[in-house]
Amino acid sequence: MNPADFYTGIVAELYGPLKSVAQDPEPYAAFVQEAGSPALELGCGDGDPLLDLRRRGLDVEGVDASADMLDRCRRRAWKQGVDVDVYHQRMEALDLPRRYRAIFLAGPTFNLLPDDSTALAALHGIRNHLAVGGTALVPLFVPSPTPAEQIGRARTATADDGAELRVSVLSEERSDSARTQTTVLRYERYRDGESTIVDRPWVLHWYTRSGFEGLAAAAGLIAVSVLETPGASDLQFQLQAAD
Ligand SMILES: C[S@@+](CC[C@H](N)C(=O)[O-])C[C@H]1O[C@@H](n2cnc3c(N)ncnc32)[C@H](O)[C@@H]1O
Repeated sequence: MNPADFYTGIVAELYGPLKSVAQDPEPYAAFVQEAGSPALELGCGDGDPLLDLRRRGLDVEGVDASADMLDRCRRRAWKQGVDVDVYHQRMEALDLPRRYRAIFLAGPTFNLLPDDSTALAALHGIRNHLAVGGTALVPLFVPSPTPAEQIGRARTATADDGAELRVSVLSEERSDSARTQTTVLRYERYRDGESTIVDRPWVLHWYTRSGFEGLAAAAGLIAVSVLETPGASDLQFQLQAAD
């Protein structure tokens, strides 16, 4: 399966109930207020933090590769009484009618692009969709290997319809030369004696600071700020057009 299709079907259904971390909307609201509108969230999924920003009255749209995640986003928006425009596209093939003062990813969603050439295509897309003077925010991290004792251990949740949901790590392969970690995840759903079990590879690809700056430069972008988290692998790039 193409890594851009990972969050479809049972994975999209279980994403919300099994979500381990919800992104704090505050830093993204602050970024949009500073960089300006309109704004665009890449990989907006089922709507965090996009819907929160819309509730604050910010002019933000979303893009995601998964139609299933976007359906959930639209349903959540409708329930919350929020208007939102979202587009079903891959960020490495971005083709939208507007240009944006602010383009961002919430959390390290850029690490889901499986290799440098896909990342470069996405950076070209970002460059082409920035308005004059616009800024892009790209958070990155270096994933840690899953600890051995976690392999095979399930996280569980209950769906709105009472189904029992489970996700567990089956196996993991890591290549430091390709800067890629592939984790095979098992998603399970049980209800009224019926079961669905799906195994899917989840790919994360990471960057050195200079490697990412090189890709950005090749796409016509320069880093105007780089935030490093002390003691952590996180890097947060703000990029602008180089010319
Ligand atoms: C970890 S989820 C984050 C969703 C949401 N921003 C949140 O924090 O809950 C990552 C999202 O990125 C989307 N995605 C993955 N690869 C993508 C790609 N190549 N282009 C666009 N979206 C992509 C997935 O479909 C998924 O909805």
